[in-house]
Amino acid sequence: MAYDTSLNFVFWTPTKIVFGENTALDVAIEVGNLKCKRALIVTDKDLVKNTDIPEKVRKALGNSCVGIFSDVEPDSGLHIVNQGAKLGRELGADCLVSAGGGSAIDTAKGMAILLKEGGKLQDYVGLQLLTRPQTPHIVIPTTAGTGSEVSYGAVIEDHEQRKKLIFADYNFIPNVAILDPKMTEGLPRGLTAATGMDAMCHAIEAMHSLQREPVTDGIALHAIRLIKEFLPRAVNDGKDMRARGQMLISANMAGTAFSNAQLGMVHALAHSIGARFKVHHGLANSILLPACVRYNADACGEVYLEILSAMGMSITRISLDEAGNVLSDKIAEFTKGLGLPQRLRDVGVRQEGLKECSEISLSDGTIVYNPKFISDSAEVLKVYQQAW
Ligand SMILES: [Fe+2]
Repeated sequence: MAYDTSLNFVFWTPTKIVFGENTALDVAIEVGNLKCKRALIVTDKDLVKNTDIPEKVRKALGNSCVGIFSDVEPDSGLHIVNQGAKLGRELGADCLVSAGGGSAIDTAKGMAILLKEGGKLQDYVGLQLLTRPQTPHIVIPTTAGTGSEVSYGAVIEDHEQRKKLIFADYNFIPNVAILDPKMTEGLPRGLTAATGMDAMCHAIEAMHSLQREPVTDGIALHAIRLIKEFLPRAVNDGKDMRARGQMLISANMAGTAFSNAQLGMVHALAHSIGARFKVHHGLANSILLPACVRYNADACGEVYLEILSAMGMSITRISLDEAGNVLSDKIAEFTKGLGLPQRLRDVGVRQEGLKECSEISLSDGTIVYNPKFISDSAEVLKVYQQAW
């Protein structure tokens, strides 16, 4: 066991988890439990256009629903959060019910701040600037990956300034996460695979993070076991409710693990590629993970053996020195089986943009928790080149 057993840590997970098929239909009970009466649904255009999910949630809320804000876009921007909060204020909303993927959930987190504090959302960019609990927020995820339903982070784009605003605060962690497999049933195959690999990256990065500790390790290891078993099933048969459910649980567990243990270079590199080339977050993570594991291999032999074991491999004949390379190959084989692209060049990334991405990655907040200290962008560039 590679822990420093003298290490102090804080583990914090205040979100109530409700799991089961059709549990989203009981959302009104959770609104009542929070002593709220006027819920505003926050969801995205695509879900309104292509699914009956927002309508189902509205019906389930009954009289406690005051409206639907459905203008959320992928990588939601500041102006969307402002519009949503304005609507919430006009309707007198006292709680938010977000139904969607990471973008809808993060938009609702921003709205929760504005509805409680007023002012400008930009004033709360950064770490732990809020001093009291924010507007109550219930999340119904429609993807299994981001873990945003339990995380203390939110990412909102500032399109004018062309940058991502990062918020991190215990005071806006959602109050309730309703994990209803029926809500992910219609998620297309490619998105199921990519979002599932985001969850896998959260679990693996939580384990190799400098801030890993026994509680997060336990949670992350089981998330890895579940993802290994159930993600291929969910990808191959979207109607497999057992697999959909276990993926919602594992993404949630991975979210809990990384919210406490933090992430590492995979996310730093994925954020830069995502911003520069508009590559889907889960897809960028999935492609970069094998190269990053290889890069960290000499610092993480023991951890990577534990992860290999959780992925179902016999590790008795694998040495500490070999573990990183074996894990890297194992992950690539796994994502290939899911039908995901293997190289950055396959998803529209141009080689000449990699240098700039390497430099931006060094200022990403997640890179400081990487098991190996990185301060030279040339090191990052080598990893990008490997994945390209
Ligand atoms: Fe992620």
